[in-house]
Amino acid sequence: MKILSTGKYLPEKVVTNAFFEKLLDTTDEWIFSRSGIKERRTASPGETCAYMGTQAALDAIDKAGVTPADIGMVIVATTTPDTVFPSVACQVQAAIGAKNAAAFDLQAACSGFLYSLILAHQFLKSNTCQYILVIGAEKLSAITNMEDRTTAVLFGDGAGAVLVQANNDPHVRGRLLAFDLGADGTQEKILFLHNANTARANAVDLGGGAYITMSGQEVFKHAITEMAKSAQKTLAAAGLTVDDIRCVIPHQANMRIVKVLADRLKVPKEKCFTNLERYGNISAACIPVALSEAEKHYHLQPGDKILMVAFGGGVTWASAVMEW
Ligand code: ACO
Repeated sequence: MKILSTGKYLPEKVVTNAFFEKLLDTTDEWIFSRSGIKERRTASPGETCAYMGTQAALDAIDKAGVTPADIGMVIVATTTPDTVFPSVACQVQAAIGAKNAAAFDLQAACSGFLYSLILAHQFLKSNTCQYILVIGAEKLSAITNMEDRTTAVLFGDGAGAVLVQANNDPHVRGRLLAFDLGADGTQEKILFLHNANTARANAVDLGGGAYITMSGQEVFKHAITEMAKSAQKTLAAAGLTVDDIRCVIPHQANMRIVKVLADRLKVPKEKCFTNLERYGNISAACIPVALSEAEKHYHLQPGDKILMVAFGGGVTWASAVMEW
């Protein structure tokens, strides 16, 4: 599997930490020192998850010069679909005119984009189609309780996309070299969102209602442990060390998590790409948006190797090493 192009879409509206100083019992100093976040983007009512996903997809398609009719599959990783059905992927498929594509959403919280990318790899390997659009799109402002200072300041909205192609030519660079996927459903209580209707119908009550509920310190510990283990496993499976890696794209939840992860992997800071200071945590959209920016930041060249690693609700985790 080769990445042909990347794309992104961030809402125009910038919400700085100063906004939360007026709304909640918090300070810019607390938010920045505990999370590394300075500002985030917030979607307007018209900027739906499907709209943001579509814009990111069009950005990627434009750069690749592929016609939408050639795309065989659209996968959208999201925890914030605008509707239960149609899926966000079906709405994107219609909006971009990918009339020959199968389309579905995948939900693995913040790990959703890597789960989707790895799934796309399996479809391409089995010759299901030639081109797949993999999107991470999130409107987290819709599921964040703006009165809860422990979560309100952390999340943002946006979308990223990659267009991938089957690559069976050994002379052409661009490959998924190794990956790791994992989950631990016994840790559901550290990070969850119960849709009020379905939870009521199933008599599930962990509290939290229709908003993200998180035990920050528990998530922090598990995120570091599982991301470090997963990344090490994937590097070993690829037969690589961190010295072979051009850049690491970690899930963008917290700068302190990224720093500890970099220490555990023994990766120099400058190899770890971050944009969470500008966008906050955009869940499944973090890695594709970061990839799109890292491509320019590091002037990625064919043959460069990139390590991506994520952790999210469920709990779930994933990592992958790609050759550009
Ligand atoms: N402003 C001021 N004080 C605050 C705020 C705030 N915004 N939020 C919490 N506090 C307070 C707490 O109430 C607590 O006060 P207390 O000591 O009087 O009880 C104190 O600050 C310390 O709170 P902690 O939770 O211990 O703070 P911590 O240093 O752990 O930072 C944070 C919290 C930023 C949430 C951190 O734990 C974290 O980033 N966790 C991981 C989040 C993550 O990785 N999420 C990824 C997955 S998201 C997904 O899948 C959708």
